[in-house]
Amino acid sequence: MNELAVELRHIVKKFPGVVANKDVSLKARRGEVHALVGENGAGKSTVMKVLYGMQRPDAGEILVDGQQVRFRTPAEAIAAGIGMVHQHFMLADNFTVLENVILGSEPTKHGRIDTAAARARILEMAAAYGLDIDPDAMVENLGVGERQRVEILKVLYRGAKILIFDEPTAVLVPQEVDELFAALQGLRAEGLSVIFISHKLDEVLRVADNVTVLRHGQTVAEVAADSVTAQDLAELMVGAELPTAPPRSTVPHERVVLSLQGITVGGQGTRDLLHDVSFEIRAGEVVGIAGVEGNGQHELIDAIIGLAPCQGTIVYNGTDISRFSVARRRDSGMGLIPEDRQREALLMGSALWENRMLGHQRSAPVARHGVLQLKAVKADAAVIMREYDVRAPGPETPAHALSGGNQQKFIVGREMSRQPSLLLASHPTRGVDVGAQAAIWEELRKARDAGMAILLISADLEELMAMSDVIKVMLRGRISGTFDPQRTTLEQLGVAMTVASA
Ligand SMILES: Nc1ncnc2c1ncn2[C@@H]1O[C@H](COP(=O)(O)OP(=O)(O)OP(=O)(O)O)[C@@H](O)[C@H]1O
Ligand SMILES: [Mg+2]
Repeated sequence: MNELAVELRHIVKKFPGVVANKDVSLKARRGEVHALVGENGAGKSTVMKVLYGMQRPDAGEILVDGQQVRFRTPAEAIAAGIGMVHQHFMLADNFTVLENVILGSEPTKHGRIDTAAARARILEMAAAYGLDIDPDAMVENLGVGERQRVEILKVLYRGAKILIFDEPTAVLVPQEVDELFAALQGLRAEGLSVIFISHKLDEVLRVADNVTVLRHGQTVAEVAADSVTAQDLAELMVGAELPTAPPRSTVPHERVVLSLQGITVGGQGTRDLLHDVSFEIRAGEVVGIAGVEGNGQHELIDAIIGLAPCQGTIVYNGTDISRFSVARRRDSGMGLIPEDRQREALLMGSALWENRMLGHQRSAPVARHGVLQLKAVKADAAVIMREYDVRAPGPETPAHALSGGNQQKFIVGREMSRQPSLLLASHPTRGVDVGAQAAIWEELRKARDAGMAILLISADLEELMAMSDVIKVMLRGRISGTFDPQRTTLEQLGVAMTVASA
């Protein structure tokens, strides 16, 4: 038996105007967790799509179990034992776990779906790999970590021996990350191979045996995880050292930019989605919000920007805006980096310059005296691309052709370009590489020092600790605790996020 489960040799993949993979080689062994790292746009997702049969390579070879293969579709890759666990879950909400797992490959007996056989197999797999889940639970009632386990079971159910994870931890809270990593160890122990893409280099070193590093579409190194540090990996990725941030030398102003007084957003059931939330953000202050996703963060942003009807009072720069429309709030200088970039912040099929206008249709440089300024828009889109290092051929490139991290950088650049007096930022660096994260933090700090107020919602506790002047924890729609990042540990935050305070 071949020691290598899969080998990619000199893969080349070109798109119009872009060489996504110039020369990518990678070897994943049996019983190995193999990490794939590299800057935004380095070509990680592309080469995995090539392996999964979603993209055809222009050159190069793929070997599975030592045999050369050529996949024209994902179905062919699946038949060869390759599985992809998607980050944007593709589960049917109103079906059970079991129904979702077997969907499309139902076992039959006398022409009927053999549920008993399916259940037995799912329970067996769940036990073997440490993927704790109730097969009869409805998917709509599951948290993000559990949904991910369903996706993994789905892939295993189809006989995958090589599992590809493209940024699986970006959507998870620390405890869920631990659970996922335990499951990955289970897969490894059973002799399966895992290929794992992540920008969180500490995690990579924790979970992986070996790491392949891409730079500008080329494999530049393969290293054993226990022989390098996170800083080493970062340097291999970017070919330079990362800047370290100096401690804050300014203090927030006295002037209050945003004041929330008793904000409540009702839910369909008896419990409010957001209950009696009150706090202030001053000019030059960063208020961080920690919490497990789904504890009211989304409703908080929606209430402030005007998308969710709420009770209570919102005072913004001295004016009660509680009854203002979304457009009026936007026009008065609120910037918004929403949680789901593909659904809420971009038109994926449209050019970047068209995306430059989203949410900014009525303000300069997009419009002057009510007239659209197309030339200025295109020029400004190009400026954002340059300043935020958005790697794409130009403003005419459609959003869908950008790598995930480059889409995010463009959105951050767009919102910052108008110099908002208040920035509502949900996961502003989700999916961006360590170098770009440092650059975005730097931009946010500069704007903060110049007086911008920031509401920072993040699943990345290190980001909250590094950026916030004060951290508030949300739990079941309420603020359950307020912390000083200088005097708080990650563990204390983690506890506050999951346990209601007395
Ligand atoms: N469908 C496409 N059409 C045109 N260009 C594309 C397409 N898909 C990817 N690209 C380009 O190929 C390059 C590599 O993109 P890829 O998505 O593989 O990067 P990545 O390493 O996964 O980055 P990230 O960390 O941001 O997810 C980028 O320059 C991207 O813009
Ligand atoms: Mg990617």
